[in-house]
Amino acid sequence: MKVNGKGMRSIWLEPDGWSVGIIDQTLLPHALVTTRLTTLAEAAAAISTMQVRGAPLIGSAAAYGLCLALRADRSDAALDDACRILAATRPTAINLRWALEEMRDRLHAVPPAERVSEAYRQAAAICEADVATNRAIAEHGATLLREAWNRKGGQGRLNVLTHCNAGWLATVDWGTALAPIFKAHDAGLPVHVWVDETRPRNQGASLTAWELLQHGVPHTVIVDNVGGHLMQHGEVDLCITGTDRTTSRGDVANKIGTYLKALAAKDNGVAFYVALPSSTIDWTIADGVAEIPIEQRDGTEVSEITGRLMNGEIATVRIVPEGSAVANYAFDVTPARLVTALITERGVCPASSEGLLALFPERRGNEGRG
Ligand code: MRU
Repeated sequence: MKVNGKGMRSIWLEPDGWSVGIIDQTLLPHALVTTRLTTLAEAAAAISTMQVRGAPLIGSAAAYGLCLALRADRSDAALDDACRILAATRPTAINLRWALEEMRDRLHAVPPAERVSEAYRQAAAICEADVATNRAIAEHGATLLREAWNRKGGQGRLNVLTHCNAGWLATVDWGTALAPIFKAHDAGLPVHVWVDETRPRNQGASLTAWELLQHGVPHTVIVDNVGGHLMQHGEVDLCITGTDRTTSRGDVANKIGTYLKALAAKDNGVAFYVALPSSTIDWTIADGVAEIPIEQRDGTEVSEITGRLMNGEIATVRIVPEGSAVANYAFDVTPARLVTALITERGVCPASSEGLLALFPERRGNEGRG
């Protein structure tokens, strides 16, 4: 996507041919700073501190993390250790495990002497596949937006609500939930996006708003509790979010607060779509509430907030009394019954086992086996 008119991705191989460039997303929207990852430890830290975040992007970053690990040690033991270290960085997004398993299976099959070059080839392939997948999601989702616009009679603007950041910063390029929005906007549809700020880390206010601004898509940032009110007043035509893990029956784990938006959408007859690459589907589980591990992060993300002071300085301030307990659940699960449809790279389907299997028939009979 474009930043200040120039094409950019969220992760890339540096001109030296081995180190990995990323955008430090903890500094957006106040500063666009890129940084180089040169070791396994740096890659793991970038994922756990959320310099890179978003389910598909952490999968790609982990793939490159393995490349960096193998540069230091190409042995079987080092490969397995690096997979363990990277897998432990964030527990909910399944793409991380998916990318590591893809890489590990292939790399064990080649002799150690060839592992580094094969790892870089594989990591690049994962990134390119992500871009192609998201481009397809953009096409399928934009058709839904066009249909919603036609149903509305082509009057006013098409109001889409989104939660967290499922744009190109959460992937290698394009994004998932935002991809159809970029596509529809580029095709001339008058899309307007309600952007949930998404406490505690404010990925909506800081990242989604920044992406939409860069691309010229009209949008309005709202605090997390506004969506229900807007839906009651007919101000939301549809919702689209991403997902960090989708079960075989279509339950979706996404950023904390997504479930409440889906409940409000159901109560108000507003369509609630979830956009996902198939790498986000965990075919081994069905019941998301019972089976998806929910990441709990440091309480300071709740008790403190970071922003830019009027003098331009970036500062972190405390907003909770000293002594109050805080809890920081990073994700919640929206059951399939609240999801109108899933938007995948192979098309749109009902959020159900049958819906997913119709698009991914090769998985029929394989559910439960990964
Ligand atoms: O904690 P984050 O910022 O990694 O959470 C990101 C989300 O919840 C996104 O909606 C999700 O990864 C889907 S991304 C395309």
